[in-house]
Amino acid sequence: MRLRVSLPVPIPVLVLILAATGRAAAGHGHDDDGESLHSEERGPGDSHWSYEEPERWGEHYLACSGTMQSPINIETEKTIFSPQLRPIQLSGYSLPASKKLKLKNNGHTVVLELPESLAITGGSAQQYRAVQLHLHWGSPTTAGSEHTVNGKRFAAELHVVHYNTKYDSFKAAVAQPDGLAVLGAFLEVGPRENPFYQEILKHLRKIQGEDEEVLVPGFNIAGLLPDSLHLYFRYNGSLTTPPCFQSVTWTVFNQTVMLSHDQISVLVTSLQYDYGKPLQNNFRPPQGLHKRWVLASFEPTFSRERQVPTAGQTSSSFHAGDVLAVVFGVLFAITALAFVFYVYKHRSQNARLDSPTKSKVIYTAATTENTA
Ligand SMILES: *[C@@H]1O[C@H](CO)[C@@H](O)[C@H](O)[C@H]1NC(C)=O
Ligand SMILES: *[C@@H]1O[C@H](CO)[C@@H](O)[C@H](O)[C@H]1NC(C)=O
Ligand SMILES: [Zn+2]
Repeated sequence: MRLRVSLPVPIPVLVLILAATGRAAAGHGHDDDGESLHSEERGPGDSHWSYEEPERWGEHYLACSGTMQSPINIETEKTIFSPQLRPIQLSGYSLPASKKLKLKNNGHTVVLELPESLAITGGSAQQYRAVQLHLHWGSPTTAGSEHTVNGKRFAAELHVVHYNTKYDSFKAAVAQPDGLAVLGAFLEVGPRENPFYQEILKHLRKIQGEDEEVLVPGFNIAGLLPDSLHLYFRYNGSLTTPPCFQSVTWTVFNQTVMLSHDQISVLVTSLQYDYGKPLQNNFRPPQGLHKRWVLASFEPTFSRERQVPTAGQTSSSFHAGDVLAVVFGVLFAITALAFVFYVYKHRSQNARLDSPTKSKVIYTAATTENTA
């Protein structure tokens, strides 16, 4: 009798398990890159690090093997809503064109030096002064953000680095537990050219080679960030490059920033390092969360999520939820139909056949044990 009920039940359970494992596998596909097998030739005494073997950074830079490293994969389901995380407030971010900023290819990324007049004034008790911003990206065919959200890697990621004004300088702050604050934003391909990013991208071909630099006119740096500065994740982590100091209060925005396909293409194909090697895939794989919490400034409910996208900015992940809901709705309907059909068939068999054959039929259909 038990078997009669157990027939339809395992189907959705099995599908759920398959869906979950399939998603997890897809989500972690980028974590290890096959390139790590090739080792880079280096000149004698060259202490340079490279993205070809990030797992070896800890050999020369102890902190890189620490337990509070960045980036991480942000699992939104496990974040903790914290109402005290106020909107990030920026000051001095709008720079006049007369203010010239140094833009440099440092062999690992493109860095825009920022004047100390730029600051984070809200969103936390401390005040932070800006130092520089830089980007992480992939290749023409692969995404290259450092943080991932539910296993999803975005096209690229912006980092705006600040130091705590309780220290005298970036250098004095860089190794302190509360020394740095980095704002992180995901870049995605959208339909339009982004005029703020263009202020950086249009100069990249002048600094193709490692250590080349150019002066660029100031612009509104805040335009590089998402529209909404009140939706974000917060956790304690590190620099994502050697020396990997665990001194960063991370703010990773939940809204993404859109660049045109051509702009992302310019970003990933313009720069070189080491005399002619393309500077690509300059992102570190996600690090273990260990005992850390990831806070969210917002409640991650489905209804709230739908309100998040605004003017040309979307958060794509909720589509997955919709698809799953439809899939399980359909599965449930099939299961219900199968059950009704089964009961009906069983009853008609009951009428026609004797009990030994009947139990055999029921037993064949029950695959409960196989799916567990
Ligand atoms: C980060 O570390 C500070 C100092 O230890 C602590 O007060 C704060 O709660 C931590 N933040 C998170 C998000 O865990
Ligand atoms: C934004 O938050 C929602 C809700 O937690 C999540 O589904 C989505 O993936 C997040 N997107 C980003 C870019 O953080
Ligand atoms: Zn960075």
